[in-house]
Amino acid sequence: MLSSDRVSKSFGTTLAVDELSIQVNKGEIFGLVGPDGAGKTTFLRMVCNLLDADAGTITIHDSPASRFPRERLGYMPQKFSLYGDLTISENINFFASLHSLDKKITRQRSEQMLQITGLTGFEDRLADNLSGGMKQKLALTSALMTRPELMVLDEPTYGVDPESRKEFWQILYRLNESGITILISTPYMDEAELCHRVALINSGKLVACESPAGLKKLFAQRVVEIRADIFDPYFFDSCPGVIDSSYYSRRFHLLVNNSEQLFTILKKYSLDNGFPDIKVNYISPSMEDVFAFLAEPRLPRQADDI
Ligand SMILES: Nc1ncnc2c1ncn2[C@@H]1O[C@H](COP(=O)(O)OP(=O)(O)O)[C@@H](O)[C@H]1O
Ligand SMILES: [Mg+2]
Repeated sequence: MLSSDRVSKSFGTTLAVDELSIQVNKGEIFGLVGPDGAGKTTFLRMVCNLLDADAGTITIHDSPASRFPRERLGYMPQKFSLYGDLTISENINFFASLHSLDKKITRQRSEQMLQITGLTGFEDRLADNLSGGMKQKLALTSALMTRPELMVLDEPTYGVDPESRKEFWQILYRLNESGITILISTPYMDEAELCHRVALINSGKLVACESPAGLKKLFAQRVVEIRADIFDPYFFDSCPGVIDSSYYSRRFHLLVNNSEQLFTILKKYSLDNGFPDIKVNYISPSMEDVFAFLAEPRLPRQADDI
C-alpha cells in the first residue's frame, strides 16, 4: 500500500533520514521503531506530504504520496494542538469543518468514532480538562473523521500513563480490524511487540524490517543471560565469542557466537573470585535485546535497570 524507496532528508548537516526503504502492506499495523532523533517524525512528515524528501520516492497505491487524497490519509502528529477552551464535540466539529464535512455526516461519524475511541459521554468536556490519555483519544477521533484508509500516528503514546497506553492500543487494534492500515512510530520496545511488522531505525537508517517474532528468531539460541555480582558494565565487552552485551544492573544479556569461549572466561572468573554465585541461562531475546544487538554501537549503552 505504501512504499518508500531510498528516501533521504537532511537538515543542514544533520542527515535525519538516510535512504530509508520500507513497504507497508494494506491491513497492517506497521511500526517505525527507534530512539529519539532516529528520524521517525521526519519520515512520517514526508509520508504525509508535509515535508519534501531530498531524494527517493514515497508512493501510496503506486502513485506519489503527494497525490494521495488528503482525506484518505489520517495523521496524528507528535505534538498536536487541540483547542483547550472548546469541548470534545466542538473540537471534532471544528476539525470536520476544516475538511468541509457537512453537519449530518459530522454528527453521524463523530458518534461512531467517539464510540470506538471510548469518549462517548464526555462530549461536553473542555479539552483543557482532559487527561493526557483522553487528549490523545480526542486527537485520534478528530483524525478519523475523514475516514482515512491509512492512519499515520507519530508517537501517540509518548508520555501517556501505562493504563492509557494499553487502552490506546486496544483502540488501534479495533480500527485495524475495521480495515484501517496503521503506520505508527514509537520509541517503546514493548509497543514494537504489538505491531505486525516493525522497521527498526537508528540515525535515520533502516536497521531491520521484520515481524517481532521474526526479529527474535534471528537471535534464538544466541542470547545468554548471566546473573552475577559483576559491577563492570563492560566486563564482557572484550570477551571472545561475545558479539555484543547489554547490562541491566548485575544482569547481562550477551549475544554470543561461541559460548564455549564465554564459558571458559566465566570459569576462570569463578576460580579467580572464589566461586561467586553466577547463573547462566539461554533466553529468548526481548525486543530491547534485538534493538541493542542490531543498533549498537550507535546507541548509548543502557546501564540502568529495566
Ligand atoms: N526542522 C528541523 N530542523 C533541524 N533539525 C531537525 C529538524 N527536524 C528534525 N531534525 C533533526 O533530525 C533528526 C531526526 O529527528 P526526528 O525526525 O524528529 O527524530 P525522531 O522523531 O525519531 O525523534 C534529529 O537529529 C533532529 O534533531
Ligand atoms: Mg519524533
